[in-house]
Amino acid sequence: MSKKAIPLMLAAGLVLGSAPAVTFADPPAPNEQADHAFDNKVIKKINAERLYERVDLLSKQPREAGTQGEYDAVQYIKSEFESYGYETELQPFTFQAWDGGTSSISVNGSDFADDVHTFNGSVNGAVEAPLEYVGLASAEEVPDTVSGKIALIERGEISFFEKVQNVIDKGAVGVIMFNQEGTEDNNFGYTYQGQDIPAVAIDHEAGLSLVNQLQSEAVTAEVSVQDAGTIDQTSYNVIATMKPHKNKDTGQIVTVGAHHDSVAGGPGANDDASGVSGVLELAEIMAKTPTDTELRFMTFGAEEKGLVGSYHYVSTLSDNEIDRISAHFQMDMIGSRDSGDLIMFTPDGQKNLVTDLGASAGARVAEVVEYGQLGRSDHVPFYLEGIPAALFIHAPLEPWYHSPEDTLDKISKEKLKETTEIVGAAVYRIARPDTPALENARVAPGPVHYEFDDRPL
Ligand code: BES
Ligand code: ZN
Repeated sequence: MSKKAIPLMLAAGLVLGSAPAVTFADPPAPNEQADHAFDNKVIKKINAERLYERVDLLSKQPREAGTQGEYDAVQYIKSEFESYGYETELQPFTFQAWDGGTSSISVNGSDFADDVHTFNGSVNGAVEAPLEYVGLASAEEVPDTVSGKIALIERGEISFFEKVQNVIDKGAVGVIMFNQEGTEDNNFGYTYQGQDIPAVAIDHEAGLSLVNQLQSEAVTAEVSVQDAGTIDQTSYNVIATMKPHKNKDTGQIVTVGAHHDSVAGGPGANDDASGVSGVLELAEIMAKTPTDTELRFMTFGAEEKGLVGSYHYVSTLSDNEIDRISAHFQMDMIGSRDSGDLIMFTPDGQKNLVTDLGASAGARVAEVVEYGQLGRSDHVPFYLEGIPAALFIHAPLEPWYHSPEDTLDKISKEKLKETTEIVGAAVYRIARPDTPALENARVAPGPVHYEFDDRPL
């Protein structure tokens, strides 16, 4: 248990493994109506239509970090926070983006395919060699004869890393990979450290034409990659702060976050326009609700590039601020109609103040929320600073995850609303000005039992 969590856990009566700070002389019988009423000031105001409309607005175009799509989203989020009355900061930071430069293929001396995509991470260079088709490039499939040749590979079944490594292990000098059946684009492919041959991607149709050509004649191909490499790009965090009532300030801070960037080419309705909409909804409601705790609502950029925005945000905090942050709530993918139940993930798979509050808020709003172990989102940098943090997400995941199909029509208003209610009720439990005196009141809901769930993703 982190040192700074102790006073608040005492205040909230949620000390794990020891007696509650204040015990009820005569424990009240569970009273669902009273428990529900406890949260009403916040959760009654959460509006499913408003939540859905924000996802609609945000998911009209992809929001990949560093692009105009992200910038448009950032401006929208900032103006929303400001319209609710928040002091709002745009926090720029740089991250390393991949620039594929110019790549081309020629076949028996003539230009081939209009559109050639450079693998992310490919080395620069030009190689000319005989072309050999090696199917899906599994270890068993790749023949020794590919040595000194360019390998023509079909995408699918095994990872990019394995395919490229299998042909390198047999001595190939370049890679042309074509997309799977049923696809039209060529926007894919990664090479990894030590995989130092030029690698490019083409679409399915172009790939098939090469396979056919190889059946009737020998083909010499040239693969060329020029000016590829990483470049600095700018992304932004958006941070909205609300100070507590002057005479009631406990000195504590609670942060609530989501990421506004999407993957390239994906509208990211669930990942994570849904979480951004939840953050904005709670910000809008909490702006009119007196608190004894400073609230910071924030959306991060470049999460999909490696949690870059949240690492940057945490790096800008002073030791004093880190000590005062009692909890971080992360909402990421909270609205898909095709995913499973809500779960709270912590990077170490341990309960903390956030999961305690989330589980009991869940019991009041809908049902107890279980917890599990996972990083993969912006709660990680907070956790690494010793701040109690958890990711609120539904699992198993929907099939549209990170695809162009992650669109508004897959969003459930009910899931959006319920998750936002649970997080809102948990945040309000800390921020409401009647804690800790509230512990003496019979209406205060107690801790609940909740379990570890090793749920598949
Ligand atoms: N929303 C996902 C997090 C996620 C994915 C949680 C799958 C649970 C299951 C997030 O936006 C994401 O995709 N994160 C990246 C990690 C990051 C370090 C690039 C991922 O998981 O690939
Ligand atoms: Zn996400």
